Amino acid sequence: MTWLNCPDTVLYVALLVWVDSLNIQLKRDSMDIFDFPAGREGYFGEYGGVFLPEILHGTIQELQQCFRVCKNDESFWSEYMEILKNYSGRPTPITYLPNLSKKLGGAQIYVKRDDLNHTGSHKINNVIGQGLLCKRLGKRRVIAETGAGQHGFATATMAARFGLDCTIYMGEVDVARQRPNVFWMENLGAKVVSVKDGQKTLKDAINECMRDWVSNMADTHYVLGTACGPHPFPEMVSWFQSVIGIEARDQLQELTGSLPNRVYACVGGGSNAIGIFQGFLDHDSVELIGCEAGGLGAGSNLHAARLAYNDASVGVAQGFKTYFLQNEEGNMRKTHSIAAGLDYIGINPIFSYLWEAGKVRFEAATDEEVKEALRLTMRSEGLIPALETAHAFVLAIREAPKMGRNEIILINQSGRGDKDIFTIADALDDREWKSFINEKSDQYLGEKD
Ligand SMILES: Cc1ncc(COP(=O)(O)O)c(C=O)c1O
Repeated sequence: MTWLNCPDTVLYVALLVWVDSLNIQLKRDSMDIFDFPAGREGYFGEYGGVFLPEILHGTIQELQQCFRVCKNDESFWSEYMEILKNYSGRPTPITYLPNLSKKLGGAQIYVKRDDLNHTGSHKINNVIGQGLLCKRLGKRRVIAETGAGQHGFATATMAARFGLDCTIYMGEVDVARQRPNVFWMENLGAKVVSVKDGQKTLKDAINECMRDWVSNMADTHYVLGTACGPHPFPEMVSWFQSVIGIEARDQLQELTGSLPNRVYACVGGGSNAIGIFQGFLDHDSVELIGCEAGGLGAGSNLHAARLAYNDASVGVAQGFKTYFLQNEEGNMRKTHSIAAGLDYIGINPIFSYLWEAGKVRFEAATDEEVKEALRLTMRSEGLIPALETAHAFVLAIREAPKMGRNEIILINQSGRGDKDIFTIADALDDREWKSFINEKSDQYLGEKD
């Protein structure tokens, strides 16, 4: 009898086919959603690519190869979804905002609640995916850059769970303004390195990560936190974040019976925005709006609105080609935002492509508008969006009154504002909070004596 005649083998093959058919749905949802433009691998139109020192070529190729395998391996996506469900709390819900909708008198406003993930933001989606990849690569150490601290917090959490050593690089300015997240990273067992170069913000933390990676690539994986950097990071981070859009589209249809008219998301590097947009890119009736950091406003030179203020030009930095805020010599300009996570010189290369193709509109919100939107959202709905996320609220609040009452807005609430307590207390000039901090400080000084 050959193996083909064996009834057990037939049963086994039938079982495999059946299991495979179950997985196909997962695979479809996760992979067909984003049609990358045909062309060179790692490029979106002319943007993207790999611009790294030769010494890193082997490491990046190893990562590309591992990502290609994982992307075509249904069991990888299933394991990823299982952890997001049972560890992070996905699917996150969609919340209707009746009070804000009524107050503004136009479109009905809904919010996708990625702030309800474990660690308080969308960053955990990408980090869990890269953690699984890191295990497949057989590496025992992870490094990451962080601005708002949410990506660092998520990476430190994943490292504790997966048993990996972890070092987080964070600009000195961001360490000061996002202290609560530094506290959690360190207590989760990560080493937090305060970067004192350059402007001491996100760009400088990324440079420091690259330096570490060059010296330690044999045992270290760089968990880049946004959809920027060399290939495969833009595609890979977008793939992991596509869970937001996949869920949101189905949930909103179930809730309202239709697709949204507009989707708003804040854009730092662009990972939460490309995450939610992937649920709607195929639907021409849905307008997608990326909300950048307007800082002190257009013409101030102190902002991070690369596309909205039409202030950036195409260049190559930090391993990839995209629109950067740079001077005529190609040196990176200073950026500014009240939100550390949006305070970055470049934008993900997929957005450069989609912007030029007219698929995504970019607008900016200033620091002042962000504080106002935050106050309004807290008071009218009891939601506390992160300062980054509040940029998307500004645009929705600005545009909703001009839309019809039967139209629908969806905002991606990428994170919650707990981490911003010091900045928000300053912005709102909260006297009670200040006297509490003074008392605490007196107590610590007393302990020293
Ligand atoms: C809550 C939150 N939203 C948005 C961002 C911006 O990042 P991205 O554009 O990659 O989503 C950050 C970055 O730290 C963040 O913490």
